[in-house]
Amino acid sequence: MGVAVQLDPSVDRFVKAPVRKMLIDGKWVEAASGKTFATVNPADGSELARVAEGDAADVDRAARAARRAFDEGPWPRMRPVEREKILLTLADLIEKHGRELAQLETLDNGKSLIETTNVDIPQAAGTFRYYAGWVNKIAGETNPSDPAYFNFTLREPVGVCGQIIAWNFPLLLASWKLGPALACGNTVVLKPAEQTPLTALRLGELLLEAGVPPGVVNVVPGYGETAGAAIVRHPLIDKIAFTGSTEVGKAIHRESADTLKRVSLELGGKSPNIVFADADIEEAVKGALIGVFFNQGEVCCAGTRLFVQDKLHDQFASTLAKAASGMKQGPGLEPGVQVGPLVSEEQLARVTGYLEVGKKEGAKPLTGGERNTSPGLEKGYFVKPTVFTGVRNDMRIAQEEIFGPVVSVLPFKDENDAVFQGNSTFYGLAAGVWTKDVSKAHRIARAIRAGTVWVNCYNVFDAASPFGGYKQSGYGRELGRHALDLYTEVKSVWLKI
Ligand code: NAI
Ligand code: MG
Repeated sequence: MGVAVQLDPSVDRFVKAPVRKMLIDGKWVEAASGKTFATVNPADGSELARVAEGDAADVDRAARAARRAFDEGPWPRMRPVEREKILLTLADLIEKHGRELAQLETLDNGKSLIETTNVDIPQAAGTFRYYAGWVNKIAGETNPSDPAYFNFTLREPVGVCGQIIAWNFPLLLASWKLGPALACGNTVVLKPAEQTPLTALRLGELLLEAGVPPGVVNVVPGYGETAGAAIVRHPLIDKIAFTGSTEVGKAIHRESADTLKRVSLELGGKSPNIVFADADIEEAVKGALIGVFFNQGEVCCAGTRLFVQDKLHDQFASTLAKAASGMKQGPGLEPGVQVGPLVSEEQLARVTGYLEVGKKEGAKPLTGGERNTSPGLEKGYFVKPTVFTGVRNDMRIAQEEIFGPVVSVLPFKDENDAVFQGNSTFYGLAAGVWTKDVSKAHRIARAIRAGTVWVNCYNVFDAASPFGGYKQSGYGRELGRHALDLYTEVKSVWLKI
């Protein structure tokens, strides 16, 4: 094992507090129940920090604070230029504390420091900066009505937003949710995932430091079945934005019927990544690797069904397997590590369970196919990067979201077959296409039913580009100008002249 990086002293301060408190109405408080829970370091299973465990009582306090801040507070009524300035300051603070946040994220989630430093933290800052730019550009319209009247629209904030996020990109997902919500003048109850509450809580401190008024953002860590469910039910909350499993997304969709909350859902995927024989093969191998092993495969849009045109299939699969087996696996803080541990013991069990299912179904791992218990990694939740061949599109490992470093390589005949197999899934989050034929690339991009299609690239993101799902991958688009629709209501005003 290599030597892990020196921890920033501020990380120590943050994790060593007896209880990491929650943020309600601008104050750091313990859970009403007094309960706490542990968040663990997935690289070795040790307890990293103790965190206040929010439940329905705390969600109620947070929802009331957010309601008050919305109904009476300055945030929705502030001059746009002031809200913009606060969001820009927040982005600057995230960058200023980038090293600390990157280390905290790596410790809590497991992902490599290379990723948190180069992707999660800068993109979180960039998302806030992007939405800061929108604050004074969210405008209504003047409508050509009967000249006896003057009719115009206002774009008003939705109100109190309950935002429930997953553990795979903790700070980045918080920025995707908070950026547009705050830009539009909403207030928020944010629940980070129980596996990874730390960076959202540190972000809470930075929000206050940036000048976000008390009650505008409340951060309530806790479990899904208690804190999460209470957010979905709470009558003072107007909207739910959720990132997580399709199963919980469906439950939220059902539950929200009682209060008719606005809902947006960013759920799972089983994305096809399609490599034609006329592709730049070297680039396609790199893209397939990034497509599925980035973030240990704990990515909703991961290219987990890798379709390779039949004449290229065997050679491509073995080249990919060789590249996968050469990826450096270890604790995320160790220099040069590319594949860290999975986030939790539960996720380890889930992913290794799927490895067994795949083998039983007759798929063959060309590399990996098991937990990694090399010296020094025994206590962590490591799974070797795995490349399966002999997979049929109707096998469970080709249809169900595994959410780990596991790819299935499947052959296809021609363009029609690629589209047919690619679309044969309940999901529709993303897809990749590799070809030098521009017309073919355009045809496939249109034929695939998914919210994002990458051509000769994969896993590329920008705050300006919308992201979200077709089919059972959810609804609503985050990022870009589309997210503004999720966080505003349209009011039509008539004046008799
Ligand atoms: P999950 O969907 O249970 O958790 C996501 C968030 O929802 C967490 O904050 C959790 O506390 C909350 N939650 C759970 N149950 C809830 C409920 N009844 N009401 C309100 N909130 C609730 O996902 P989990 O169990 O962590 O992972 C299971 C699988 O879900 C993964 O293996 C993966 O396949 C998928 N997943 C997909 C993600 C994506 O980005 N689309 C992210 C995380 C997980
Ligand atoms: Mg769950």
